[in-house]
Amino acid sequence: MHNDIQEVLYSEEQLQEKVRELGELLSKEYGGRNPLVICVLKGAFVFMSDLVKRIEIPLEIDFMAVSSYGASTKSSGVVKIIKDLDTPIEGRNILIVEDIIDSGLTLSYLIDVLERRNAQSIKVVTLFDKPSGRRVEMEADYTGFTLPDKFIVGYGLDYAEKYRNLPYIGVLKPEVYSE
Ligand code: PRP
Ligand code: MN
Ligand code: MG
Repeated sequence: MHNDIQEVLYSEEQLQEKVRELGELLSKEYGGRNPLVICVLKGAFVFMSDLVKRIEIPLEIDFMAVSSYGASTKSSGVVKIIKDLDTPIEGRNILIVEDIIDSGLTLSYLIDVLERRNAQSIKVVTLFDKPSGRRVEMEADYTGFTLPDKFIVGYGLDYAEKYRNLPYIGVLKPEVYSE
């Protein structure tokens, strides 16, 4: 285990199992609809890459980068688009892939932007949901795990850009924040 990690919340095996389940479900939901699967960078990149391998139907992918946290464990509340989609989405079935919904600000902003582009449908799959953090109303259509009010890292999720490469989800030791 990484030295800064206090506790492993979800092991690599538990994550893979959940991703397989979600992939199976989404394969059924999106069969014949050629969905455009959108990865919300950076946090969702690990989940996205594992998930699309488990969605066994034709699909297309694109990437969008937004950020609101900076080097903090709290959302700034100001969401910025750092990279927009390459693909027009008019008439498409959109599946947004997120790693985590906390305050809900990132997704509500993103959905607001995408809704103005006349997609046929826009749905959200998130690996983690932290309902205790909500500042705006936001619910995913597909959720992997519901989390307690803890700040987690790994499997794409960072603290100050670190720990994204951990293959499991861990809780940081408190002294790591205060350094
Ligand atoms: C994190 C996470 C989600 C968002 C969730 O992204 O990856 O995108 O925050 O929080 P919210 O519901 O309170 O908006 P972050 O802004 O840290 O950027 P990153 O994905 O590049 O780490
Ligand atoms: Mn993110
Ligand atoms: Mg982050």
